[in-house]
Amino acid sequence: MARFSLLSAILLHLVVVSMQQGDDETLDIRQRFGSSSVSMINDQIQNEFNAMYLYESMASYFGRPSVGLPGFKKFLKKAANKERERAHKLIDYLNMRGGHVRLKPITPPSKFEWFSALDAAETALGAEKNITQELYRLRDRADMESDPHLVDFIESEFLTEQVTSIRDLRELIARLNKAGSGLGELILDKELN
Ligand SMILES: *[C@@H]1O[C@H](CO)[C@@H](O)[C@H](O)[C@H]1NC(C)=O
Ligand SMILES: [Fe+2]
Repeated sequence: MARFSLLSAILLHLVVVSMQQGDDETLDIRQRFGSSSVSMINDQIQNEFNAMYLYESMASYFGRPSVGLPGFKKFLKKAANKERERAHKLIDYLNMRGGHVRLKPITPPSKFEWFSALDAAETALGAEKNITQELYRLRDRADMESDPHLVDFIESEFLTEQVTSIRDLRELIARLNKAGSGLGELILDKELN
C-alpha cells in the first residue's frame, strides 16, 4: 500500500513536471491546437512559398523582351505576391496560437520556359488545385481535433479565395483556348496589362 502510494506520488510528480515543461506561457493559446495542426500549417507555408516561386518564375519568363507578354507577367507577379501574403498569414496564425514556425526549403518549378500562356495557365490551375486539396486536408484535420478556430480561419481566409482563383484560371484558360496563340494571346495580354 505504501509502495503503491509512493509510486502514484512519483507518477503524479512526473505528470506535473512534464506539464510545466510544456510551453506554459502559451498553454492558454494552444488550447485545442494539436501538434499535427502545427506541422500541417508548416507544410502549408511551404506549399504557398512553392507556389510563389512557380509564379515568380512564370512572371520572369513572360517578362522577357523576347517573349513580350507584359500583361501575363503582371498577372503572374500579382499571383506570386498573393501567395507570399498567404504564407505570411499562416506564419502570423501559428504565432498567434502558440505554434512554432519551421521554414522548409522552397522547391523551384520543374521548368523555366513555357510553351505558351495557355501552358502556364494550365500549370497554375494544377498548382491551385493541389493547394486547395491540401487546405481541405488541413481543414478536416482541424475539425477532427475539435478546433473550430482553425476550421474557421482556413475556410474564411483561404478556401473562399481558392475557389475564386480556380474559377478565374478556368476562365482565362477558356479564353486562351478560344483566342488561340499568336494574335489571340496578344489581345488577352493587353487586357491583363
Ligand atoms: C499537383 O500534384 C500532382 C500530384 O501530386 C503533381 O503531379 C503535379 O506536379 C502537381 N502540380 C503542380 C503544379 O505542382
Ligand atoms: Fe493560390
